[in-house]
Amino acid sequence: MLACCRHGPRPNRAAPRLSQLPSPTAAPAADRPVDILVLYYSRNGATRALADCIAQGIDAVPGTAARLRTVPPVSATVEVAAPPVPPSGAPYAELVDLEQCGGLALGSPTRFGNMAAPMKHFLDSTSTLWLSGALAGKPAAVFTSTSSLHGGQEATLLSMMLPLLHQGMLLVGLPYTEPDLTTTRSGGTPYGASHYAPHNAGRGVTDEERRLAVALGRRLAQAALKLGA
Ligand SMILES: Cc1cc2nc3c(=O)[nH]c(=O)nc-3n(C[C@H](O)[C@H](O)[C@H](O)COP(=O)(O)O)c2cc1C
Repeated sequence: MLACCRHGPRPNRAAPRLSQLPSPTAAPAADRPVDILVLYYSRNGATRALADCIAQGIDAVPGTAARLRTVPPVSATVEVAAPPVPPSGAPYAELVDLEQCGGLALGSPTRFGNMAAPMKHFLDSTSTLWLSGALAGKPAAVFTSTSSLHGGQEATLLSMMLPLLHQGMLLVGLPYTEPDLTTTRSGGTPYGASHYAPHNAGRGVTDEERRLAVALGRRLAQAALKLGA
């Protein structure tokens, strides 16, 4: 298993909207990589491990850089405010991270066949971006983790795409030209990267899951460059 990517803050770099993009043939400035936001929620680390692999794929594409961000947990009652800085892992995302990104990888554990509430809660705070069209035309990909193999990975990935489509994002998946998609006995789907993390198995991301997650990050970064971000 690879230790993948940096979680620390990066300087924010603005990416232009689709309507403001230069010609698709124009190369990005060498000193100004396009930031691809890897935005995830993870309570126990399985989804975060996948986020690191996706970030590795993004960072492997010259001209792009992964910006890892997470979201705070939510509670049914307002008991405890989240600490201003997470005790570990990536910093909390702000709307400006979405506004400035050249592409987005969105990850959540599966909860009852759907994304986890903290991620949905964050997405529900993005209506100003929806109104301004800030994300329209930017590429996006999704990833998830489950504790059972048939416990809803594909349902979660597909439902995570819905808010991104409302935002006008262009979805990137995994093609079957990736051989691991056919041979995997764990996670990895054409709809996005996934990780099967059975309880108490002590098993990390498998080789197939890792290669597919890296490939997804690479495809997302390449799509952002092709779109001229
Ligand atoms: C409330 C809740 C609902 C869950 N629902 C599902 C489910 O529908 N299918 C499944 O396979 N796993 C389910 N799980 C297990 C998590 O998806 C799994 O443990 C995941 O790997 C956790 O990711 P994390 O380590 O990034 O937090 C659920 C866990 C919780 C707490």
